[in-house]
Amino acid sequence: MKIKKAVIPVAGKGTRFLPATKEIPKEMIPILNTPMISIVVEEAVKAGITEIIFVNSRGKESIENYFDRNLHLESFLKEADKNDQELLIKNIGSNVEVLSVRQKEQLGLGHAINCARPLIGNEPFAVLLGDDIMDGEVPGIKQLIDKYEELSCSGVIGLFEVPKSETSKYGIIEGEKKAEGLFKLNAMVEKPTPKDAPSNLAVPGRYVFDSEIFVFLDKIPRGVGGEYQLTDAIEMMAKERDVYGAILDGTRFDTGSMEGYLEATIAYASRDEKLKKVIVDSVKKYT
Ligand code: G1P
Repeated sequence: MKIKKAVIPVAGKGTRFLPATKEIPKEMIPILNTPMISIVVEEAVKAGITEIIFVNSRGKESIENYFDRNLHLESFLKEADKNDQELLIKNIGSNVEVLSVRQKEQLGLGHAINCARPLIGNEPFAVLLGDDIMDGEVPGIKQLIDKYEELSCSGVIGLFEVPKSETSKYGIIEGEKKAEGLFKLNAMVEKPTPKDAPSNLAVPGRYVFDSEIFVFLDKIPRGVGGEYQLTDAIEMMAKERDVYGAILDGTRFDTGSMEGYLEATIAYASRDEKLKKVIVDSVKKYT
């Protein structure tokens, strides 16, 4: 079955970006002039996704509005002869259906994904976390969708290698190497200390599952941080079904942190010659 749906959890409070996130959803903070959520949605669309399901919460309405038409602004731009800008905003969301479901309480990533269940039904689906921007020739989630279709398994999890000292920031897998960059999962641990980490293979917020994941999401108890962890459902699933991890090609920006956000901004800006010069000159001037 072709993967057409993607779940993007956006209910988080974005505390690492306060005070901006007091009134603006973290996902709407832009890299240059493009909201981060738009970059993540574009990755999904490029991978053939036609339906995005946002798991959101109170105060996140501007995300849905962003992917809706704004006829008032369009006609203002038309009258002002700003045709390029008119087309730019008209096109946002034109190639994808956007649905949303509320996560009424912030009970963790596993709980957030489970909230999307009525809109997924029995189809396989992708999950993209908005704090990770994947940049590369082939969209990160497409690499996983391709592997999922090739392997006919229950799930494929994106992976990247991290220094052992950073394992406590991520879900970490234990797997059996099947081919270059491909592992069959035996276990998965959420945010282990370097001492307890079974490997240095971390999950960068890109996943593909069949709908069986919901069976396991229903079974998990509260885990790390008192939250229902997606990692725990994946671990349970891997014990009973075939779940693979695939190292993703491309660069990952951790835009959930200030450092990663700055790095992503510099990387995107440096693609424009004029902005690249501003970066080089500013570094000389201010550092
Ligand atoms: C979540 C997941 C974790 C994953 C990480 C990627 O954690 O629980 O397994 O490695 O995203 O960004 P969070 O960063 O939301 O705490």
